[in-house]
Formats: sequence, structure tokens, C-alpha cells
Amino acid sequence: ETYTASITAPVNIATLKYWGKRDTNLNLPTNSSISVTLDQSDLKTTTSAMTCSSFTKDRLWLNGEEDLQLSESKRLTQVLANLRLKRKEKEAKDASLTKISDWFIHIVSINNFPTAAGLASSAAGFAALVACVAKLLQLDDDMTELSKIARQGSGSACRSLFGGFVAWEMGEHSDGTDSKAVEVAPLEHWPQMKACILVACADKKDVSSTSGMQLTVKTSDLFQKRITEVVPERFEQMKKSILDKDFELFAELTMKDSNSFHATCLDSYPPIFYMNDTSKKVVRLVHKINAFYGKTIVAYTFDAGPNAVLYYLEENEDKLMTFIYAMFKNLNGWENKYNGDELNKFI
Ligand code: DP6
Repeated sequence: ETYTASITAPVNIATLKYWGKRDTNLNLPTNSSISVTLDQSDLKTTTSAMTCSSFTKDRLWLNGEEDLQLSESKRLTQVLANLRLKRKEKEAKDASLTKISDWFIHIVSINNFPTAAGLASSAAGFAALVACVAKLLQLDDDMTELSKIARQGSGSACRSLFGGFVAWEMGEHSDGTDSKAVEVAPLEHWPQMKACILVACADKKDVSSTSGMQLTVKTSDLFQKRITEVVPERFEQMKKSILDKDFELFAELTMKDSNSFHATCLDSYPPIFYMNDTSKKVVRLVHKINAFYGKTIVAYTFDAGPNAVLYYLEENEDKLMTFIYAMFKNLNGWENKYNGDELNKFI
């Protein structure tokens, strides 16, 4: 007898960044965070799982190749152990259920985008894995409950279990029972919101987010102010901006938080650089575009890598893309070529 399940999970890009853990084993964060989950049709992970009494160990294939390192990692073992425990509890209550909680699982996972390039692949990956195995084991838990398990695989993964606008509430308990993802608003609440990813470099990143944030926690002075003062206030403001559909406020908070996160990286010792020269050009371009229109029509945010994610409202897509294409055509020296009024050329 075999059981199978298949699922896809989309990438989420944080607009209020998770950076820092208070517990590295359970992935408990030092601050709450907010993200926007991209549409299922864009970047996503597709995961299928199968379980069968004759399997002899848990195995995992990532983009067509068996990943022994991940299969044996503490993250994966811990996630699977949690899911099996839930199945065991269900089997204990209902004797008619087959005891599949004792069987090994084979998992096949495929990303439609570069892995570990700061494009949130671990987020979609662990979210898909948890949702898929939960389906395989026929668990009845809701997404918030499952988010506590996905979080242990990769912190940001807990937010990818929901579509639309999502908050990860940091919680207070040391066992992590209140550190979970909740929906702020579904995608339909603000369907005009669009995201665009500018891939500056699709290579693997230098410093993994896991070790990067440990270094920041240990060495950055700025970080203390960020987690105690800056983020708690911004968390409430950003949730409100989403509920009010106040793009200008949402955009300003998003850009400031990206800058604040990268500032704590730079303030780590030795410093961590995720943004490169292309990233900085995108930052300047975005501010120029906003100044040109006299209002904020686009926001940038950067994760642990040089690629920019831009957020904007659909109605401004044409206005924005004119500039983006021009910039990429004239990557070297565009600023000197097109200063101030010169930007008029693109309209
Ligand atoms: C900059 O979730 O990849 O993207 O919990 O160690 O797996 P681990 O870290 P991860 O960190 C993501 C950091 C970030 C910000 C964010 O997504 O909130």
C-alpha cells in the first residue's frame, strides 16, 4: 500500500525583515516580520511525497538530484518528526487508521527559480514540504498550526503557507507555541499590488542567512535598537498600511526596513554585504522615479542577496517599466546620462 500527495507553495518576500534568532534550534525570531506572498503562477516550489511500508529511510530529491545533506539535516529530521507526531496522535484516537506514522517518506521537490540566490527558495521549499507531508499524513491542522512546524525548517517558510499579506508573530514562549504565521489580509484585499524581481545575480549567496543573522545578533550594536524600538512600531504601522491600502506608507516602510536590515548587516563584525553595485543603482533609480512623479509609486526591498524586489500598484506598471528597461540598457553610467529633467526622455 502506498500513499501520495502533491502541493505547490509560492515564494514570499519580506517587507518587514526577519533577521535574528533568539533560539536557533526552534528558529524563534528576535522580531516579528511581514511579507507578501507572490502569486502561485510566479516563483514556486512543487513538492510530491510518497510513503510506503517498504521504504527503508527518508529520502529527498531537490531539483532532480538526491540531497543527502538536507535529508540528514537536523532541520528536515525535526520537521518530519513533528509531522509524524501529529499523525501518531491521530492514530491513537482512531484505531481504524493505518499506522503510516512509522513509515519512511520519499520527497521530490522542484523550484522553478535559482536555489539559494537570496530568492527565498528555502521559504517556499519548507512550506511546500510541510504542507505536502501534512496532506500525505492526512493531518487536520490549520495553516497557523503547520506554520509552527515550517518555521523550524526555515524561519521565513512559516509565512509561505498563506497567500497575500502575512505576519509572522514572534511570540514570547520559549517552546515556540506562539511563534506563528497569521494572515494580515488575503490577496483579494489588495489585488492591485504587484511585485517584480530584478535578478542582479543568480549565484549562490556568500553568507547564508542562518549564519549571517547569528553574526549580526552577536556583534551589531544597531541591531539592538532595531529589534527593541524600530521594528515593533513598524510592524503595527505596516499592518495598518496594508489594511488601509495606503501604498505610499507601505512603500516607505518597506524601503526603510530593507535599508535598516542591510545597515545591521554592515554593522556586523566582520561586515556582511548582500547588496552589490547593481542593487545600489536600483535603489537610486527607485528614489529618482518617485521624486520624478512627486509621489511614491514604487518600493524596493532586498533579502540576503543582491536581487531587488520591487512593489508597485498595477496602474503604475507602465510608468515604472519604462525606467527599468532604460536602466538595464544603460547599466553603466545611466545616472550621468539621465539626470533630473533628462528622465523626461522616458515618458
Ligand atoms: C533576509 O528564513 O532563510 O530573507 O530561519 O535560518 O532558515 P533561517 O533563515 P531564513 O531567513 C530569511 C531572511 C530574510 C528576511 C525574511 O525573509 O524575513
